[in-house]
Amino acid sequence: MKKLVTAPYGLHGSLTVPGDKSISHRAVMLGSISKGKTVIHHFLAGDDCLSTLAAFNAMGVKSERDGETVIIYGNGIDALKEPAQPLDMGNSGTTTRLLMGILAGRDFETRLFGDASLQKRPMKRVSEPLSHFLGARIELTDNGTLPATIYGQKLHGTHYQMQVASAQVKSALIFAALQADTPSTIIEKLPTRNHTEIMLNQFGANIETAADQKTIRVMPKPELTGQTVEVPGDISSAAFFLTAGAIVANSRIRLERVNLNPTRTGIITVLQKMGADLQIEALPTDGEPLGNITIATSQLKPIEIEAEDIPAVIDELPLVALLAACAAGTSSIRGAEELRVKETDRIQTVVAELRKLGVEVEELTDGMIIKGRSQWAINDDQLDSYGDHRIGMMDAIAALKADRPLQLANADAVSVSYPGFFQDLERLLGGDLA
Ligand code: S3P
Repeated sequence: MKKLVTAPYGLHGSLTVPGDKSISHRAVMLGSISKGKTVIHHFLAGDDCLSTLAAFNAMGVKSERDGETVIIYGNGIDALKEPAQPLDMGNSGTTTRLLMGILAGRDFETRLFGDASLQKRPMKRVSEPLSHFLGARIELTDNGTLPATIYGQKLHGTHYQMQVASAQVKSALIFAALQADTPSTIIEKLPTRNHTEIMLNQFGANIETAADQKTIRVMPKPELTGQTVEVPGDISSAAFFLTAGAIVANSRIRLERVNLNPTRTGIITVLQKMGADLQIEALPTDGEPLGNITIATSQLKPIEIEAEDIPAVIDELPLVALLAACAAGTSSIRGAEELRVKETDRIQTVVAELRKLGVEVEELTDGMIIKGRSQWAINDDQLDSYGDHRIGMMDAIAALKADRPLQLANADAVSVSYPGFFQDLERLLGGDLA
């Protein structure tokens, strides 16, 4: 059980958050299927991205890692080898789903398995379009979950209208389409994070996104060449401290070099709409948009989140619920049924944790309604991550506002995306930014 601290004097200081998780995964994957050396700076050495690195090592890709710098010696996608053992995906949905797209077109067989939480998550959303539209052959359990066996096949170009708004499914389809015999068009349900498209073009592929931001054309068989990738700070990690800065009295925090890709900045839009005291300083960059964000405490207004808003804030919705719990009025989150199939059912786990804090929350099938209040009436001191990194960190941020130290069960889960989270929090508690 981890003791969670309170923050009676607020949080102060500047922080560079760890590298972006989505971009770190993709940098390892693209480096591994390209020819030549790829150097990744500010790589997120969290458990999930290390699962991706280990999977490619097991398929014969050589790499070196020194802290946050990773060098991948790629020999092209055709040089990947059949792994001697089934590949362990750990807790990582991104590793699993994106790898399915890469492995679907190889000339070998691969088995994938994961931890108890990952083995409950839906995988048919990837295997079905890969099989029915591109000609892949993937076996799952009868429940449509891991373990999976991927029997590599010759793939065919396709035209596919996506059924779910998911960057993981889209990316798997793009990876498979790159190996097909003819070009493919993939149409998204709603625009989702586009790191795969941006990075593939940087490595030499030809992926075009139409003006609607939803229609993606993939030209097959590109010559991919190793690159240098500077991974920006993860806005999904920065979001914990943006939330803390907004809700904990007397705080002022600066987060440096955070990724500001518009497909990811939903939390900034939410904070602005809620009336947060927030400034953004854009920084020059050759790659993904980047900037410093400063936030200070303010009284928040309630917010209404609808289906179209969800993809850009999907991983930050637990924090949106926490912000709403501190706002002056009633907020709602709807159209967020995807939360039910994350590392935990995040509608259920967020509702459970907020109720322990004495917040009035109504659970909906696709979201929740939250009554904000300035002072909580905590009725259970034992918070729980339920093994979900983002729920554990949300709990730790919520606990800063409590009138006494609370406890967190299963705190280790934070290492999935933010191994240094508690140290960074400590720094801001003793920080010195005026
Ligand atoms: C991710 C996409 C999102 C997100 C996940 C990372 C990615 O998942 O929740 O944390 O890197 O593509 P979905 O594609 O399931 O929405």
